[in-house]
Amino acid sequence: MKRAMKIAVTSASGNLGSAVINQLKQELDARDIIGIARTAENAKHLGVEVRKGDYNVQADFNLALKDVDAVLLVSGMDHPDKRIEQHRNVIEAAKNTAVKKIVYTSIIGAEKGNAFSAIVASNRQTEEDIRQSGLQWAIGRNGIYIEPDLEYIEIYKQEGAIINCAADGKCAYTSRQELAFAYTRLLMNDELQGKTYNLCGVPITQQELADAINLGFNTKLTFKNIPVDAYILQRQTALGEFLGTIIGGIYEGIRNGANDVASDFLTISKRPHKSVNEMIKEFKLSNQS
Ligand SMILES: NC(=O)c1ccc[n+]([C@@H]2O[C@H](COP(=O)([O-])OP(=O)(O)OC[C@H]3O[C@@H](n4cnc5c(N)ncnc54)[C@H](OP(=O)(O)O)[C@@H]3O)[C@@H](O)[C@H]2O)c1
Repeated sequence: MKRAMKIAVTSASGNLGSAVINQLKQELDARDIIGIARTAENAKHLGVEVRKGDYNVQADFNLALKDVDAVLLVSGMDHPDKRIEQHRNVIEAAKNTAVKKIVYTSIIGAEKGNAFSAIVASNRQTEEDIRQSGLQWAIGRNGIYIEPDLEYIEIYKQEGAIINCAADGKCAYTSRQELAFAYTRLLMNDELQGKTYNLCGVPITQQELADAINLGFNTKLTFKNIPVDAYILQRQTALGEFLGTIIGGIYEGIRNGANDVASDFLTISKRPHKSVNEMIKEFKLSNQS
């Protein structure tokens, strides 16, 4: 009897990995989905087979990718110099096993010129490793998630404003739900392979983001721009050197136009990306249940 297609998702315990698995469950029998997680217990609730996979340990993936046809490699969270080798552990294991296709969650952004660029550059190296792997491949470049801004609303309300260094730069936001929809299409539709896609909505300014939040949450936020150096320092003080630099660099990139890009979401998903207002509604609904 012909075996059904098996799809695996790495970092299955994370927000993006679990959103993709929940979306895949609408398309495939749960027995044909495998969650791979560094901490297997954190992914047990997904109702699919869970296998161990720490990006630092290639041997984990030699086992975890057994009998898998297509794998979604969710980008790691480590320092950029570590990520490239971690992602190579998964790519090499995919080559060692029977995996036919690898799909990678990369990031939109500038490879040079801001404090986030080292992360973007490491993602570009993994993209290239995947293109050279000899496997079938597809790459999504994710827009900035909208959820962290929505989870941050109480702070914005206390401060009375969204404060960062983006000036009037535009950012094409997305949500993990929208990404899950697009990655399910990339994993399941072979006609989409061999290309790199921007996965995001329509670019908006920070003032437009504040307007959408005001509409959705009945707030009265404005946008206040501050200089790049001051913002990075403020974020480093609040979040530590590594995360503060990343967050500061993301807004520096938005200011310089790195996130003002055209989306390929429609090509992949056969429907337009949700608007910011729709993503906010969806966020509110999922946080009520
Ligand atoms: N586009 C954006 O705005 C944006 C924002 C933030 C992050 N990102 C990127 O998108 C990725 C997914 O986002 P998310 O929302 O799912 O993040 P998340 O909810 O914070 O989840 C992070 C995941 O990474 C896993 N992980 C950490 N170190 C690992 C390792 N050494 N080996 C294997 N797994 C490891 C964690 O597993 P445990 O359960 O074991 O901790 C967890 O499942 C992130 O990793 C990051 O690269 C993008």
